[in-house]
Amino acid sequence: MTAAEEWLSFSDAPRILHPPPGPRSAALLAEQGRLETDAVGYPHYFPIAPKVAQGSTIEDLDGNRFIDWVSGISVLNLGHRHPRLVAAMEAQAKQIWHALELPTETRLRFLRALEDALPGNLRGHARIFLTVTGGDAVETAVALADHAQGRQGTIAFSGAYHGVHGGVVNLTAGARYRATSSFRGGNVVRVPYPDPYRPVLGADEGAAGTIRYLEHLVGDPHSGVDRISSVLVEPILGEGGYVVPPEDFLPSLREFCDRHGLLLIADEVQTGLGRTGEMWAVEHSRTTPDILCIAKTIGGGLPLSVVAYRDDLVKELPRGFHLGTYRGNPLALAVGAETLKILKEGDLLERTRRRGGNLIERFRTMADGHPSIGSVRGKGFMIGVEFVHDRVGRKAWGDRAKAMRSALLARGVLMHTCGSWEQVLRFMSPLVIEDELLERGLQAFDEALDSLEIAPESPRPKGPLHPPPAPGELRRLPEHAVPVPGVPPVPGPTLERRKAD
Ligand SMILES: Cc1ncc(COP(=O)(O)O)c(C=O)c1O
Repeated sequence: MTAAEEWLSFSDAPRILHPPPGPRSAALLAEQGRLETDAVGYPHYFPIAPKVAQGSTIEDLDGNRFIDWVSGISVLNLGHRHPRLVAAMEAQAKQIWHALELPTETRLRFLRALEDALPGNLRGHARIFLTVTGGDAVETAVALADHAQGRQGTIAFSGAYHGVHGGVVNLTAGARYRATSSFRGGNVVRVPYPDPYRPVLGADEGAAGTIRYLEHLVGDPHSGVDRISSVLVEPILGEGGYVVPPEDFLPSLREFCDRHGLLLIADEVQTGLGRTGEMWAVEHSRTTPDILCIAKTIGGGLPLSVVAYRDDLVKELPRGFHLGTYRGNPLALAVGAETLKILKEGDLLERTRRRGGNLIERFRTMADGHPSIGSVRGKGFMIGVEFVHDRVGRKAWGDRAKAMRSALLARGVLMHTCGSWEQVLRFMSPLVIEDELLERGLQAFDEALDSLEIAPESPRPKGPLHPPPAPGELRRLPEHAVPVPGVPPVPGPTLERRKAD
């Protein structure tokens, strides 16, 4: 087997034949613009028409090949069309692909695999809700917490993104459906997320200030806050800017919840399933939530999300507590069961931690020569690069991050923004990306930075990125790399170079 056959991705990416949008992409984008609502966003950020995707690469209709560092917003932790996921889905498609909540063998295989993968003392002590989207899962989790506690109220954080569901139940007629919904009054108390780069409540010195504020909210009878049942938190802020909180934040939050009889809900929709180098981001601080929300990679792009909750939270839930026609789609469950298996076997998580740490260093080294980068932070393959007008004032520079997104697209690398001002570029490549593609992406990133920032009077130092990869370190093929059936390998200049090595 040649090295090329072992790649999951197109081995010659990035390859730009026609500056995007090329003519065929442009034609489809124009037709989409005529037929579809103006509300679609991604075609504006990434004006390409995808044709086929493999591993960590996407080819558009014009033959351009892009390195995908977006992963469908953390949906594709195992990359596009992973052969084992394709096989699982094909096998399921020959059996049954819509079964309501009936117990297919695949459903049970999924539930067993999930039970085995849960964090801390949720493992072996959890009940599972199958839901469809991330927002659906969070909505179910909050309603469940309120039901278990007998009061409706949630503490949530600034910068949080949990989805956009929650209103339609008010339009449904049956009182019994509305009875279990938490989205009538909207009793939400907002607290600053502890962001060490933009600290409120002393977040640059740990979580103590945030916890003191929370204590005030629930402990002072005149704080104006009451009836709280739960605290809902992202272990690392996703859409809010890839903000890594102080290390003591989640353990302190756990203790705070225990002190006050509140339930801790972790939204791991974006951080879960290996993205940060652990199966769950809460595991970095050995914190176990009472309720865990899972979505995105669990279905690998097929609609599936999950709520796992401590089995002693509620004695029993009313039948139909939270509903939806498509819950537990068999195709998605087949993909989900295989996804959990792949993530649990082998060393993918360990590699994600190791390579993620190396990548953060590489981005930081690039930042040394580029004062428009104010902060580089992250865990595993969830890395944020924040752009600022100046490092002292830290004024967010969203236009610079968006210009970088375009400059990267032109060089064949897809990267998306996040953060309150869209000032953060986020690295969220598939975990299975080949080392060589990481190198080429970093090279493109450096060139894109240069193209936007270099001032004639102050040329930035040139030379190799520091620290250079150890020999063989970033070139080695991933052990799990397997050929994509029916897709011929694409020889590229790099492979020739490797042969010559
Ligand atoms: C942390 C988090 N929670 C919830 C959601 C909502 O998920 P969905 O878009 O599937 O409803 C997202 C989406 O990006 C998310 O990042």
